[in-house]
This record gives sequence, C-alpha cells and structure tokens, in this order.
Amino acid sequence: MCGIVGYAGSRPALQIVIDGLARLEYRGYDSAGVAIVADGEVRATRRAGKLARLRESLAAGTPSPGEVGIGHTRWATHGPPTDRNAHPHRDCTGAIAVVHNGIIENFATLRERLEKDGHILASDTDTEAVAHLLEDAMAGQQDLTEAMRTVCRRLDGAFTLVAVHAGQPDVVVGARRNSPLVVGRGTGENFLASDVAAFIEHTRDAIELGQDQVVELRRDGVRVIDFDGRPADVKEYHVDWDVSAAEKGGYDYFMLKEIAEQPQAVADTLLGRVGMDGRLTLDEMRLSDEELREVDKIIIVACGTAYHAGLIAKYAIEHWAQLPCEVELASEFRYRDPILTRTTLVIAISQSGETMDTLMAVRHAREQRARVLGICNVNGSSIPRECDGVLYTHAGPEIAVASTKAFLTQLVAVYLVALYIAQTRGTKWADEVFAVVQLLAGMPEKVEKVLETMEPVRALARSLASEKCVLFLGRHVGYPVALEGALKLKELAYMHAEGFAAGELKHGPIALIEENLPVVVVVPPRARDVLHDKIVSNIQEIRARGARTIVIAEAGDESVVAYADTLLRVPAVPTLLQPLVTTVPLQVFACELATAKGHDVDQPRNLAKSVTVE
Ligand code: F6R
Repeated sequence: MCGIVGYAGSRPALQIVIDGLARLEYRGYDSAGVAIVADGEVRATRRAGKLARLRESLAAGTPSPGEVGIGHTRWATHGPPTDRNAHPHRDCTGAIAVVHNGIIENFATLRERLEKDGHILASDTDTEAVAHLLEDAMAGQQDLTEAMRTVCRRLDGAFTLVAVHAGQPDVVVGARRNSPLVVGRGTGENFLASDVAAFIEHTRDAIELGQDQVVELRRDGVRVIDFDGRPADVKEYHVDWDVSAAEKGGYDYFMLKEIAEQPQAVADTLLGRVGMDGRLTLDEMRLSDEELREVDKIIIVACGTAYHAGLIAKYAIEHWAQLPCEVELASEFRYRDPILTRTTLVIAISQSGETMDTLMAVRHAREQRARVLGICNVNGSSIPRECDGVLYTHAGPEIAVASTKAFLTQLVAVYLVALYIAQTRGTKWADEVFAVVQLLAGMPEKVEKVLETMEPVRALARSLASEKCVLFLGRHVGYPVALEGALKLKELAYMHAEGFAAGELKHGPIALIEENLPVVVVVPPRARDVLHDKIVSNIQEIRARGARTIVIAEAGDESVVAYADTLLRVPAVPTLLQPLVTTVPLQVFACELATAKGHDVDQPRNLAKSVTVE
C-alpha cells in the first residue's frame, strides 16, 4: 500500500522517479507526488488522482532540474484523497519533504505536541507529523540521517519513510519498520523503492533492508544503520527477472497478461522440485524432515485470494498428509486464542509477502512457538524473512491488483508441501506421491487448453454486464473456487457476487434465487460420483426456481447438459487438481465483464495490491 521511490544519481531525477511510480501504481492510486532537490530548495508537486494527473501538472509547469528526488503514490488511510493530503509532506520551513507508507499509530499525540510547539500542520495525514519532527530534530544537528534515526525511535506502528532536505542536496534518507523498502544499486546512481519493479529497468542488483533500519542513499554509495546508529547487516541479491516481466507486453491490461502467463507460472513453480529418484526435494523450505515428522496440526493463515488457496490446501493436506488442518483469515487469527504448540505448523500464504494481517499472524504464531512456513511470491519480502521456512512460488511479478497467476502457483506450492509432508511422514508411498507430481506436471498444458477456449466465457461476460448480482456455487474444492470467482467479480466489476457451498443453499441463500439470476456452478469430476450427483441436483433445484445456470464441468460430462443454460468445459483432471482449471474461466469472466463496464481492471477502485496496513 502506497508506493515509494527515491533516487540519488547523476541523471535528471524527475523522470526516473515518475517512471518508478508508474511501476508502483498498483500499490495505490489515490494521489501521487514528487519532490526534487534543486538549486538549494526542495520543489514538490502533488495531485489527487492517478499518476496521469500528476504528469499533466508537471507537464504544465517548468521542469525541475535536480539529480536527487523522491516520489509517492498513495492509498489513502488518514484523510481523503485530496491534493492537500497527497505526499510528499513538508515541514514549516519547506526545506524537508517526506513520503510514507504505513500507519503511524501515535500520530495524534505527536501532532498535538507539535501544534503546541507552534508547528502548523496543513493536512489530515499521519505522515505530516514526521516532516515536522524531522524539522525539530534537524534544528539541533543538521544531519538528515541522524534526524531520521531520532524521529523513528519516537514512532509507533508501521512505516517506510523516505525524505530529502534542501540543505543536503545529494542525499535521500529512508527508514523502515514493518513496511517494505529495497535499495537498488546502480553505477553512479542508487535507488530506493517499495518494490524492485520501480528500478528494474536501471539495475537488478538490490539490497534487502532489515527491520528498524535507516538507509542513506547517495550517488556513489549506500550506508545502512539501525535505529541505534550501529552499522547494520544487509543482504545483497540479484533480481532474477527483468524489465519485460514488469511490462504489459502487448496486452491491454496486466491482468490479461498475468492470466495468460499461468501455464508458465505453474510450470516454473514445479521446476526443480523433483529429484532424480522421483522424490520431492524441497530443501529450500528450511524445515527438517525431523521437524515435519513431529507436526500434529496445520493451521493456514492468509487473506483474500491467498485465503482461498488455503481453503483448497486444507483438502489436499488432510487427504495426502493425513493431518488435521484449519484455515483462518489472517486478520482474525491473533484475536482469538489459537491453540498453538511446537508441533503445530502454521503455513502463511501471501503473494506479496508484505500483507500486514498475515505478517502479524506469522509473528503471533512464532511467539507461541509454532513453526511457521511461508508460501510467498516476492523474494526477500517481510513474511519469508520472518518465517522458519519458505517455499517460493515462481509466478514472476504480479502487477494487476486482482490476483490470478499467484493463486494458481500458491495451489501448486501447497500441494507440493502436502505431498512432501506425506512423503516424509510415510502417509503416501513414494510412487503415489510421484504419480500426483506427474499429474501436476501435466497441469500447465491443461491450463493452456482452458485459455484457448475462453471466447464463449468472454461473450457470456459481455452479455451479463448489466446484471446486478451473480452467485457462485461449488462443493468440496469447488467451494473455495466459487468464493474466488465471486471475489474477482466484486473487486473488478463492483457487482454483488457471493460464493456458496452448494449444499448450504437450502439453508438460506436459495431465497436469493429469482427469475434469470445468473448462477455459476462449479461441478466436480464425475469420478467423485456422490459429490457430483449432489451438485447436479443442486443445479436442478435452482433452475426450477428460475436461475440462469452457468455450469462449469469437465469435458465429457453429459449429465449436466440438460440443466445448463450455458455450459463451459474444462479438461478432466482429478478432483484435488480441478481448481487449477476451474478458476481460470472465472478470472476471465470477471476481467471481461469489468472491461465491458468500462472499469480499469488493473486498478479497481478503493483497492491496492500490497495491503501493508491492518
Ligand atoms: C484479490 C487479491 C487480494 C489478495 C490479498 C492477499 O484478487 O489480490 O485478496 O489476495 O490481499 O494478498 P497477498 O497474497 O499479497 O498476501
């Protein structure tokens, strides 16, 4: 949430900062702003609305020279998305500009104190207090890095802060606690950003900053210290994808590109995880076989789409690893009293690795001594850093706000974990595990087949663009798929959409069915005869009450033909793997319907990709 960019180099900073913000706009698009240090002053421009509005304002003014600058794209927390609340924020003297991602929880107390001391605060934000605190801290010592360190020690909450000062024209100072900030190392220039995507076109050499660290960025060097002023240990790494992965590559939207990339993302997530002997090797997971053998309960924590991946994982874990498994919304987890012991394995699923609710759940689990495994997509992000072990998905950068390819790879990753635990605990024979892995290896091709047959789905979506409500039904692993289909439609098309367990319908939701209400039904494979036949009965029940039935069923399943107003086919695969093919039409459906309604599918209203506030 909120994207931040900082640059210190020898090229005009403005363009580099703006280009960086364009790559971070997925993190928030309520307002955007920049501050450039030039001619002994800090010049800031900020505008409510998307980055395009800021670009317009900048184009209308005199271009700022200057080779040091910062920028921000906002997802509003404190104060509405107006020009006044847009970042950067300034101190009373105008010498300081600061941008922020996160929430400063004690800002009201700090603000009151500052106002008593005579500071004039011009916005409703929590961030502005930091600019004035820096002003006070600078009064004594004239060093922005030291001032930042002093101020950070007074702040509660989560923050990434990046600031510049007119009196130190060659320096950008950043700090982080609980929110992301990475350094990009160039030649004669260095970068700061919430995500490597912001500087990937300039350098792929990055530094992972740790918790409670301050970084001083200059053209020719980077210095990192902790909040106590001691030199800090940092981890350097090379980003393994390039700028083309962060571009649309000919698609109208990132979401379309990311949907199309799913076969590759699934294949990449499987790559290198089976040894020569056919056994799964997940060494990178950092949890020993001994530790896994001790596990007697699994709890999965995640949010949104990742939570739906967790709900599906439960079926696989209980079936293959034969361990009890609970799935919990990360935002709820630590507010009850979860029973956690050393033999509980908590699995945190997160694309970004920065979701604050999930991060807090990870911390809570570790405090209770549970072992925690992260399943994440972003290398070096906070969640994998704080977990005992990690299994990375290899979806590549996911930029559209709505998660698609990350979801499929999360499924693959949790399946691998479930199978690995089964292999380690001996609940499945090696050849059984291998047989499932072989089926998984065939999934990219099946997903590709689904993608080739999406035109009827798109036509259907366009025909439903004026509907007010769509319901989604499923059973077993089809139920979380129904939830995911509904979530995609809500977030992209702003339509009322609900997912239900088909068996629950008769306990209440069937009252919603009325003439022509579109209801999407995910039908399990025929091989699961009881499950399958039950849902076929459910389809008849809703059709009898006037529903317009949109049925997703495997190729060759003739039993549903008579009851489907629209029939969408997916390749036949075993039940547990079916979500990998049944989710795809629902993604395409939501994307097309939202486009037909004229929405920006990459940047749906009110949302941001990486949710770094609780
Ligand atoms: C929905 C979506 C969100 C995320 C959720 C968790 O399309 O993208 O629901 O799945 O915010 O995000 P991560 O996976 O980054 O923890």
